[in-house]
Amino acid sequence: MNIFERLESNVRSYCRKFPTVFSSAKGSQIIDTQGRSYIDFLSGGGALNYGHNDPAMQQAVMNYIAGDGLIQGLDLHTGAKADFLTTFEALILQPRKLDYKVQFTGPTGSNGVEAALKLARLVKKRSNVIAFSNSYHGHTLGSLAVTGNSYFRNQAFVDRHNVSFLPFDGYLGPAVNTLDYLEKVIADPGSGVDLPAAVIVETTQAEGGVNVAATKWLRGLGDVCREFGVLLIVDEIQTGVGRTGPFFSFEDAGLYPDIVVLSKSLSGMGLPMTLVLMKPELDQWKPGEHNGTFRGNNLAFVAATEALHRYWQDSSLSQAVGLNGQYLAKRLRELAARHAAHILSVRGKGMLHGVQFGQRGNAQEILRLCFEKGLLLECCGPNGEVVKLSPPLTIERDLLEQGLALLEEAAAELFVR
Ligand SMILES: Cc1ncc(COP(=O)(O)O)c(C=O)c1O
Repeated sequence: MNIFERLESNVRSYCRKFPTVFSSAKGSQIIDTQGRSYIDFLSGGGALNYGHNDPAMQQAVMNYIAGDGLIQGLDLHTGAKADFLTTFEALILQPRKLDYKVQFTGPTGSNGVEAALKLARLVKKRSNVIAFSNSYHGHTLGSLAVTGNSYFRNQAFVDRHNVSFLPFDGYLGPAVNTLDYLEKVIADPGSGVDLPAAVIVETTQAEGGVNVAATKWLRGLGDVCREFGVLLIVDEIQTGVGRTGPFFSFEDAGLYPDIVVLSKSLSGMGLPMTLVLMKPELDQWKPGEHNGTFRGNNLAFVAATEALHRYWQDSSLSQAVGLNGQYLAKRLRELAARHAAHILSVRGKGMLHGVQFGQRGNAQEILRLCFEKGLLLECCGPNGEVVKLSPPLTIERDLLEQGLALLEEAAAELFVR
C-alpha cells in the first residue's frame, strides 16, 4: 500500500480518479513522476483559469520572497495588499462601475460564503436564506446548509434550518419559469417560506451539473430581490475571473448584486485567497467581528495583482474565452450527435461545459478512459452523470483540440464496443 492509501484519510477524492503521482505542471499540462503528460481540463477545480505556473506570476512571487516580503499578514496593511486593492479597483471595479467594499476572508471559497451569509443575516436581521436546487457553495456548515446535493449534506448531522431550497432556472423543464414560484412564495405570507435575508445563487451551477441560468432569469431574480428588500448574493467562486467570458459572470445580465464571493482563480496561480464584495452600505461589520488568521496571504496578493495586469487591462481574454467556448460547444454538440443514444445533453457557457450521460456510470467510465489517454476531467451533477470540462482560459487551440480528440476517442471506445 502506498503512503497515500496507508496514511491519508478515506475522504480523499480526486486522487482516486487519477491514480498516479504528479510532479510538475506548466500551462495546460501536468506531468507525473513517470514523465507522462496530461492535458488539464480540470484546472484545479476552477482555480487555474490562467493555467499552471504562469511565468510572470511565478517571477513576481519569487521576487517578493527573495526580497523578504511579509508572507503571513493577518489583516495588516502591506504594500502587496495595497497594490492588489489599487489594481482591483482600477482594472475590475471602476471600469464596470461597481461600487463595492472589499472584505478579505479566510482563504477558501467556503470561508467567503460563510461571511456573505452571516453579513446578509446581520444586515437584514432575518435568518432565512433562499438557495437553489443543485446549488454548491462548499463544505463548511453554513455553506453546506445552502448546498443542494444530499450526498454532501447528509454527513453533517447538524441543524440545517433557515434555508429554503427553491427550483433553479430550468429545474422544472423549459416550459416553467421557476421565478414565478419564487416570487409567489416570497410575496405570500402563507407560503411557509419566511421572508429571506438573502438569495444565494450561482449564475451557472458548476458542481450541480453545469446548469446555466438564462440571462433573463437572472435579471428577473435581481428584480424580485430588489422588490422585496432581499439581498442578492452571487457566488462567483467558480464562474468568476473570466470562466464564462466576462470577469464577473453576472455582467451579461447587467446585475449589480448586493454581495459577491470571489475565490479560486483570483490569485492567478492557485494560491488560496477569497474576497467578499459588498455594497458600501452593507459593510456593517464591527472591527474583528468576522476574523481569521489566514486572511492575508500576501503571496496570493502579489500573484493576483500580476494576473490582473496581465489579463484584465483589456477584453482580449474575454474574447478568447468567447471564441474557444464556441468551438468547445460545437465539438461537444457533434460528439452528442454521434452518440445520441448515450448523451442526453450538452450545456455550458464560455469555457465551462458539461456533457450529460444517460446511463449511470458512463461519465465515470469516460473519465477513466480519458485519464488513460492523457486527459484530466471531472464529473459533476446530482448523480455524477455529467462530465465537466473547464480547461484553462489561456489554453492553446491545438491543445484544446487534442484534449477534445481524446474525449471523442474515449466515447467511441465506450459506446462502439
Ligand atoms: C460555486 C462554488 N462555491 C463554493 C465553493 C467552495 O469553495 P472551496 O472548496 O474553496 O471551499 C466551490 C468549490 O468548488 C464552488 O464551485
